[in-house]
Amino acid sequence: MAKKLNIGIVGAGRIGKVHARNLVYRIPGACLRAIVDLNEDAARGLAAELGVPGAGADFRELLTDPEIQAVLVCSSTDTHARITQEAARAGKHVFCEKPISHSLAEIDETLGVVEKAGVKLQVGFNRRFDANFRRVRRAVESGEIGEPSLIHIVSRDPAPPPIEYVKSSGGMFLDMTVHDFDMARFLIGAEIEEVFTLAGVRVDPAIGAAGDVDTAVILLKFCNGVIGTIDNSRRASYGYDQRVEILGSKGSIATMNNYPNQAVISDGQSVRRDLPLNFFMDRYTESFVAEVADFMEAVLMDRPVPVGGADGRISVAMAMAAAKSHLEGRPINLVTGDYFPNFLSADC
Ligand SMILES: NC(=O)c1ccc[n+]([C@@H]2O[C@H](COP(=O)([O-])OP(=O)(O)OC[C@H]3O[C@@H](n4cnc5c(N)ncnc54)[C@H](O)[C@@H]3O)[C@@H](O)[C@H]2O)c1
Repeated sequence: MAKKLNIGIVGAGRIGKVHARNLVYRIPGACLRAIVDLNEDAARGLAAELGVPGAGADFRELLTDPEIQAVLVCSSTDTHARITQEAARAGKHVFCEKPISHSLAEIDETLGVVEKAGVKLQVGFNRRFDANFRRVRRAVESGEIGEPSLIHIVSRDPAPPPIEYVKSSGGMFLDMTVHDFDMARFLIGAEIEEVFTLAGVRVDPAIGAAGDVDTAVILLKFCNGVIGTIDNSRRASYGYDQRVEILGSKGSIATMNNYPNQAVISDGQSVRRDLPLNFFMDRYTESFVAEVADFMEAVLMDRPVPVGGADGRISVAMAMAAAKSHLEGRPINLVTGDYFPNFLSADC
């Protein structure tokens, strides 16, 4: 990819820093021109660290810069839809962190604006770009494990986020499980027809007091008949637990956690190893590079983005259905229209 792409970043928080450093150090052809954050000191500090020429507080500074071709929206979730819409209207291609919004109506409005503007929109479902999960997808797609019948996704954070984050996160299903819904659809290559949630508070009563859950198992029924589970917890004392297994007619494929080293210590008491990589910034490092590199390639080569707005919309709807299932204690069907009218077609 010989061409260059001029990029601006909105948000210099946890994920904004990851993307900014990748653009500067890891992605050939990326030219990070400016970083903005409501916390201007954060934007200026990150820009100074990386030698990025522009920094400010207002995202509109990126939109009025004619040199900037694409914007990475890495600010808090409640700002994604508005910034994406304004960026699209200004003719900028957008990479938007997940989720696009907590409101389906706002997502639909955003996708409409993007389509009208004729720009590209990629949603930050980075796990699709992880080497382990790509290999699982390849095994399903190629028929290597035959016809899939079961999928199990284990997705547990090492520790719960601060309670202030929980309160504005939209709840565990929208904040955390949204990744797993996307993984499930991506790995099986089919839509999910029905979800049934069992969830509770097993980690921190403060999470329950904030109206959220921290532990859940979600049963999935796919349109092609595959049955699945998502197992979520906000706490795994041994580190970030991110595993998948799919059983097919010819065999199964499973991925283990990623470790900082491969060393195994054996002595008279036990055989042991160090803990898995602790959280998303360590575990998914390469996937964050790959997703933005692919976004750039889609823009520069005028190809479809690998994860589009429709993917962002469906996973949010799944998260809402999972929350409703938990509240009402019943399965929620996304085809029959008992929640979202005509969300998926009868044949999915
Ligand atoms: N793909 C992933 O694995 C992943 C991981 C972490 C976070 N995220 C998503 O990224 C987003 C940010 O998460 P985070 O953990 O980096 O949060 P954060 O709180 O660390 O950073 C968000 C930053 O956005 C800034 N901001 C808020 N409103 C703004 C505005 N209007 N203009 C400019 N800056 C603004 C804040 O000042 C803050 O510095 C969330 O939507 C989250 O869901 C995705």
